Amino acid sequence: MAYSKYMLELMSKAKLKNKTIVLPEGEDARVLEAAHIVAEEGLAKLVILGKEAEIKAFFAEKGWGLEGIEIVEPEKSPRLQEYTKLLFELRKDKGLSEEDAAKLALNYNYFGTLMIKSGHADGMVSGANHSTADTVRPALQIIKSAKKGRMASSCFIMVSGGKPYILSDCAIVINPTDREMADIALDAAESAINFGMEPKVALLSYSTYGSGKGEAVDKVKSAVALAKADLQLPEYKELNIKLDGELQADAALDAVVAKKKAPASDVAGQANVLIFPTLEAGNIGYKLLQRLGGCEAYGPLLQGLKAPVNDLSRGALVEDIVGVIVCTVLQTK
Ligand SMILES: CC(C)(COP(=O)(O)OP(=O)(O)OC[C@H]1O[C@@H](n2cnc3c(N)ncnc32)[C@H](O)[C@@H]1OP(=O)(O)O)[C@@H](O)C(=O)NCCC(=O)NCCS
Repeated sequence: MAYSKYMLELMSKAKLKNKTIVLPEGEDARVLEAAHIVAEEGLAKLVILGKEAEIKAFFAEKGWGLEGIEIVEPEKSPRLQEYTKLLFELRKDKGLSEEDAAKLALNYNYFGTLMIKSGHADGMVSGANHSTADTVRPALQIIKSAKKGRMASSCFIMVSGGKPYILSDCAIVINPTDREMADIALDAAESAINFGMEPKVALLSYSTYGSGKGEAVDKVKSAVALAKADLQLPEYKELNIKLDGELQADAALDAVVAKKKAPASDVAGQANVLIFPTLEAGNIGYKLLQRLGGCEAYGPLLQGLKAPVNDLSRGALVEDIVGVIVCTVLQTK
């Protein structure tokens, strides 16, 4: 896969940030190949978790150097005790025993997350061999949401015809309430800004401006009202976020349809951030675009966390893993 011009631009920005990303899946050849590309291009510094001898042998066989890459074997790490103690302190009120903390800290996704919490890495990319739940649960428990009481959610960057779009939420929040959908829309707008876009956010439905009826439409209408009210808050005022709904996908994306269905909207026909009413719609939607529409897809990228932890699809190619590492670098503070 050749990278789009857009991804090449994100790569140039990532290089300037010089961040450290931890990759807990050192047993996976795709992850190791992606690590080699990232290190060689100077997109990030990397920590790979895994068996040192095996990883070194893999790199030696390929004739690749290990500059910019640190290999950490959690079982032998001098920091294991420190991380175990930290995990116990963070989770003892949730019923975690010292014994279970010692076991859990040896789980590579927990170990990587604890590295971030301790300031020894800036972000993590995992999921080539783990489910979304196993990858993101440590982050939800340890890193936590950036805004208290707010759900973390996720987005995909989809590149279609060279143009980037943010789709959200396609991976985490199964059936958001109106309040949660509004929060997802606002966090997705901030993700778009992080990834170099000017957000025009459409909250999607099977109805445009009241053309359809039902509880699901009412939820989206209410989410639009809540998000629009929040855009008046000082934290959002300067961000120049345009947001509207409820809109059908064609009214959101197609200027001709928008002119008929929502002529007064400053988002319809030009939306680049698409917010789905449920995980079902979002997950099916992004996969259709990827498989039938031939779009590049990067994600799911978590949004709304204090530090970035990102998931990979288990079918991810080396290029996808490189792209997600680049996005993770751009999400770091
Ligand atoms: C993300 C997900 C795995 C979390 O599930 P879980 O681990 O069972 O979550 P739990 O309810 O046990 O919560 C675990 C912790 O994470 C927190 N949490 C859960 N979801 C959260 C969210 N969206 N944002 C912030 N925190 C969250 C909980 O508050 C809890 O914290 P605590 O233990 O400190 O009290 C779940 O929402 C899920 O399965 N989503 C769908 C995933 C999926 O199948 N995606 C499609 C494929 S990509």
